[in-house]
Amino acid sequence: MSEFPLHKVPDNFQDAHINAEQYREMYRRSIDDPAAFWAEQAEQFLTWDKRWDRVVEADFTQGKAEWFGGGKLNVSVNCIDRHLPARADQTAFIWEGDDPADSKHIAYAELKDAVCRLANALRERGVKKGDRVCIYMPMIPEAAYAMLACARIGAIHSVVFGGFSPEALKDRILDSDCRTVITADEGLRGGKRVPLKANTDAALAHCPNVHTCLVVRRTGGDIAWQEGRDTWYHEATEGASTDCEPESMDAEDPLFILYTSGSTGKPKGVLHTTAGYLLQSALTFKYTFDYREGEVYWCTADVGWVTGHTYIVYGPLANGAISLMFEGVPTYPDAGRCWEVVDKHQVATFYTAPTAIRALHAVGDEPVKRASRASLRLLGTVGEPINPEAWEWYYTVVGDSRCPIVDTWWQTETGAHMITPLPGATDLKPGSASFPVFGVNLALLNEDGSEIEGPGAGYLVVKSPWPSQIRSVYGDHQRLIDTYFSAYPGYYFTGDGASRDEDGYYWITGRVDDVLNVSGHRMGTAEVESALVLHDKIAEAAVVGFPHDIKGQGIYCYVTPMAGVEPSDELRKELIDLCVKEIGPIAKPDVIQWAPGLPKTRSGKIMRRILRKIAENELENLGDTSTLADPTVVDHLVENRAS
Ligand code: WTA
Repeated sequence: MSEFPLHKVPDNFQDAHINAEQYREMYRRSIDDPAAFWAEQAEQFLTWDKRWDRVVEADFTQGKAEWFGGGKLNVSVNCIDRHLPARADQTAFIWEGDDPADSKHIAYAELKDAVCRLANALRERGVKKGDRVCIYMPMIPEAAYAMLACARIGAIHSVVFGGFSPEALKDRILDSDCRTVITADEGLRGGKRVPLKANTDAALAHCPNVHTCLVVRRTGGDIAWQEGRDTWYHEATEGASTDCEPESMDAEDPLFILYTSGSTGKPKGVLHTTAGYLLQSALTFKYTFDYREGEVYWCTADVGWVTGHTYIVYGPLANGAISLMFEGVPTYPDAGRCWEVVDKHQVATFYTAPTAIRALHAVGDEPVKRASRASLRLLGTVGEPINPEAWEWYYTVVGDSRCPIVDTWWQTETGAHMITPLPGATDLKPGSASFPVFGVNLALLNEDGSEIEGPGAGYLVVKSPWPSQIRSVYGDHQRLIDTYFSAYPGYYFTGDGASRDEDGYYWITGRVDDVLNVSGHRMGTAEVESALVLHDKIAEAAVVGFPHDIKGQGIYCYVTPMAGVEPSDELRKELIDLCVKEIGPIAKPDVIQWAPGLPKTRSGKIMRRILRKIAENELENLGDTSTLADPTVVDHLVENRAS
């Protein structure tokens, strides 16, 4: 499958937590007797207020799963208190600011104080168990404090990525009826200010239920203030106690909601619960990254995405690890920033997205070689398929051919890693996510739903429950069933295609639905289309992805203006701005092609397959166009293809 050589487990990983034999033995046990396997792990990884009564009860036809029913625990206690006093002075977070001169260490004892203060401040404002709290923050420690403070009092957090627009923020606040918002005056990324409070104000103009907006002072920039609703974070927490009684939560009580895009409709509020989520996060963090006591681990994701939740905050802290949080971007002040930070903080594990690797690869080796990177032991990727060329560069140049790469496949809905190499157990094939995590029971299906045995390619599905699986779509359980559990009854449908080779390695090929993956960010084509047709000069729009060297996929829009409207560069710019306003900068279209007509079947369905081929410039291979209502539409699109 790959012209690149197999990379054997290196010598310095021979004593890893899990070797090849242990992986095989534990994996087999986890599939043969999941209840016994996960009960053992739950004892080992978590601290319980009350032991569970039953390990797992699930019904995939109803999208239902209950893990550790009857058990009680608190996530913030598992991430903080139980590491005290032993780790009181050990760093929990290293924070590296946007400005290279700005960094600090937060010890576990300080983390406890900060989290308890905020938890008390929230309680004082009436926030209680089950209430939803929206967190719209830059990458500063207070973002993690906010998540953990919610967990402490049993409030459900909904983190919204700081790059989302006021419109997108408003939709998410309203969908889960968040009544408290935690934000900052401004964020700072690559030397530029991000107007978080101004965005929040614009969103909250349409959210009458929000009674409290806590504002962290990050830049000191000018902001508007609404008396009664707005409160400075530092003032609210200053006098608060550093002790806060944790809420003892049921294993299945919600921990957080995180919105993600699907192929239809508005983003869904993916709901995760307490024990199962934390368990799989903790276990995968320890084993995937072969985490060793005292090592510095750095995940470059934003806390606004699931990777930030599971692998900056919950997984590392549950293991008492040192997690580096970075406020800035990999190319500021220049393309050497990441490697400078690696040297500065002696980072052992570096975990990032293929899009960042491709962007840095494009700049060349010099910025990498300027740094020693001697502290690096392990590299990781997440979020999209990594092309073997980028993999090899990451391996040979960044890792000096001595650091294994863990290519981790998972989703917002899966909560934690599902397919990944383990550095002490797996010989690596560049571009393959390799093997399933313990307890993850995979299959590949043919179009007709039959399982593929042995090597082959098909739809990637999961056959049985796993602890960190999505529990519901907030406020709409039927949507969970329809989206994930109906296409192939009895299976969880991932939306991804994959192949399995003769050695059993999995190779993810990408989404098989109308979800784009732009720079590792998920986006529904329908979301971009809805934004485009908001323009009163636009009649119709169809959006597809196309291969993009750096971003993985770019956004290609076919747009039909209203009758009598002349397409113009000005209109094009208005449309681009509209997408940015409605969704955020990540939704900026790469190509807009004017389309007097779209290829439709006689029943009016848009033939996206053809639009994809044109966007990909695969013009010889457009397939059968005879079923179209008007086949000449395709000729026009091909002739006027935007290049
Ligand atoms: C894609 C991110 C290939 C996949 C954690 C999935 C990947 C979607 C990989 C989920 C990988 C994630 N190789 N593709 N290692 N990791 N994906 O919800 O298409 O933002 O369905 O979660 O990203 O994106 P999400």
